[in-house]
Amino acid sequence: MQEGPAPSPVGLVLDPEKIRGRVEEIGAEITRDYAGRSPLLVAVLKGSVVFLADLVRAIDLAVKVDFMAISSYGPGGRSGVVRILKDLSASIEGEDVILVEDIIDTGLTSTYLLATLRARQPKTLEVCTLLDKSVRRIIEVPIRYKGFDIPDEFVVGYGLDYQGRYRNIRSIIGVKDLDALAEDSEGIVAPYV
Ligand code: IMP
Ligand code: MG
Repeated sequence: MQEGPAPSPVGLVLDPEKIRGRVEEIGAEITRDYAGRSPLLVAVLKGSVVFLADLVRAIDLAVKVDFMAISSYGPGGRSGVVRILKDLSASIEGEDVILVEDIIDTGLTSTYLLATLRARQPKTLEVCTLLDKSVRRIIEVPIRYKGFDIPDEFVVGYGLDYQGRYRNIRSIIGVKDLDALAEDSEGIVAPYV
């Protein structure tokens, strides 16, 4: 049998136009749902930052933003035990809070964050995630706004990282071979940057 070219270790999942269109739609939905109010968008550093930056500009309301940074413990950071590295800069009591996530995978991180935020007595609390890897869910998360459902594949780009890199890729790409990405990154992702 002839040997074909080696399969690419990465593949396009969402192009910038698709992402932009969906972010505009979510922004319009939030604008309708929160008419006359001033929701506080709470983003989780660092992965959600690119999404948040586009989302706030798609919302036609007097939105506010705040940030939290967390680290996850356990095997692969997947134990559901989360430590707050940077907390919100102000009280959220009585606020209409929207938790903005890049991706919900097992659901452990969001579940912890929702419990933490709920204890601070916001008026309302909803979840907005760009990506939903629902097939991997361990704990159900009440998602109010969702960008895209994606299959069980590791993705990078549009804020999402692998070992701290690739957040600046404009597309969201799926990685079939993480080792290849760790070794020869520039060449592999070049078509998508
Ligand atoms: P969960 O607690 O399993 O829902 O994990 C959520 C977090 O894991 C996200 O906020 C990301 O930081 C990270 N994560 C999960 N899947 C991916 C992925 O495919 N690419 C990059 N980061 C991911
Ligand atoms: Mg990450």
